[in-house]
Amino acid sequence: MIKFQPFEMEAMMSQWENTVQYNLSESGVHPLRLADLVDEPELVHQLLATELNYPQANGLIELRERIASLYPGATADQVLVTVGAAEANFVTLQTLLAAGDEMVMMLPNYMQIWGLAYNAGLCVKTFNLDEACGWKPDLEQLRQAVTNRTKLIAICNPNNPTGYILSAAEMDAIVAAADRVGAWILADEVYSGAERMADVQTPSFWGRYDKVLAINSLSKAYGLPGLRIGWVVCPAGTAGEVWRRHEYTTISATMLANKLATLALTPTTRIRLIQRTRACVRQGYALLDAWINTHDGILDVVPPQAAAIAFVRYHLPINSTALVERLRKEKSVLVVPGDHFGLDHHLRISFGPPSAYLQAGLGRIHELITNLASG
Ligand SMILES: Cc1ncc(COP(=O)(O)O)c(C=O)c1O
Repeated sequence: MIKFQPFEMEAMMSQWENTVQYNLSESGVHPLRLADLVDEPELVHQLLATELNYPQANGLIELRERIASLYPGATADQVLVTVGAAEANFVTLQTLLAAGDEMVMMLPNYMQIWGLAYNAGLCVKTFNLDEACGWKPDLEQLRQAVTNRTKLIAICNPNNPTGYILSAAEMDAIVAAADRVGAWILADEVYSGAERMADVQTPSFWGRYDKVLAINSLSKAYGLPGLRIGWVVCPAGTAGEVWRRHEYTTISATMLANKLATLALTPTTRIRLIQRTRACVRQGYALLDAWINTHDGILDVVPPQAAAIAFVRYHLPINSTALVERLRKEKSVLVVPGDHFGLDHHLRISFGPPSAYLQAGLGRIHELITNLASG
C-alpha cells in the first residue's frame, strides 16, 4: 500500500499561520470584510432572511449562471460549485484518473495535485518552468513527457509559486501536446484576475480545446478565501461525473457562501473586487521589490506577473526548510520554503498583506538573513 503523503505546505501553514506574528505564507491578498461585500441595508435584510438549508448541491442556479457567463459557450449545467478550488482539484482528479494512470504536471506548482496523484497511485511525470528563462515552460520537456499513456496534463496558470503567466503560444503548445494523445487538461486558474502588470484578465484554457476542466475560486483574485467557494467548469458529459464525487466529499458548499458568492460575481462587484486585488498586488510588490533591492548579492527574483507571491532566490548556505524554521522560531515570521516546491534556496514570500504589516514582517526577515550573510 502507498504510504500517505501529506500536503507539506498546507500542513505547515495550518499549524503555524495563526500563531506567528507575521504570516507571509499566504498566496492571496488581504481578505475583504463581510461589510465590504454586503454594503447595502437591503442586502443585509435579504441575507438575514436566508433559510440555512442545504443549497442545491451543485451550487445555486444563479451562482452557476454567473460562473458560466465567464466561460464562453458554457452553461450553468456544466458548472459544479465546490468547497474552494481545493475540492475542485480533488474531485476532478478523482473523476478523470484511476490508480496506474499517467499524468503530466508543471513544476514548480501548487503541490496539491502532486500529492493527490501520488496518494491515488497515479504515475506523475513533470515538465519545468525554467527560472533562467524568466520561468518560461520548457516545452521540449513537455513534449517528451507526454506519451500515448498520458491521460491528463495539469496546469496552474498564473502559476503558484512563480506568478508566471503563460503566453498564448505556450497555451497553444500545451493544448497541442494534450490533443496529440487525447489527454484532458486540468487548468487551475485561481490567480486569473490577480495580474500585477496588465489590466487584462489571464485567459482561461476553456474554449481552446474540448477536453478542458477549468478550475477557479473566490479565494485569490476576489479576496474571499473564507467563503470557501470554488468551481469547476466541465465539458457537457463530464459535469455529472464530477458532481457524483462531490456528493461523496462535501455534498455542497454552504447556503450562505453560495449567496455571498452570487453577490461577489454580480458583474459590477466582480470588477470592483478584481480591481481591489490588482491594487493590493501592485502596492505590495512595489514594497517587496524595494526591499529585495536592498539585499544585493543575497536575494534575487524573477518579478511575478500575477498573484501576491514572489518566489525569491537567496544566496546563503542554508537549506530553505532550515531557514524557514529559524525565521519562525527566532523572528515569528512564516514564509514557505522552496523545498515545498522541490526547489531549495528559494522562499515564497507573500506581498498580499497591508503595507505596515508587510514592512514589519520583511524587517524581521532582513534581521536574520543579514546576520546569516555576515557569517
Ligand atoms: C494554485 C492553487 N489552487 C488551489 C488552491 C486552493 O484554493 P481554495 O482556497 O480556493 O481552495 C490554492 C491555494 O493556495 C492555490 O494556490
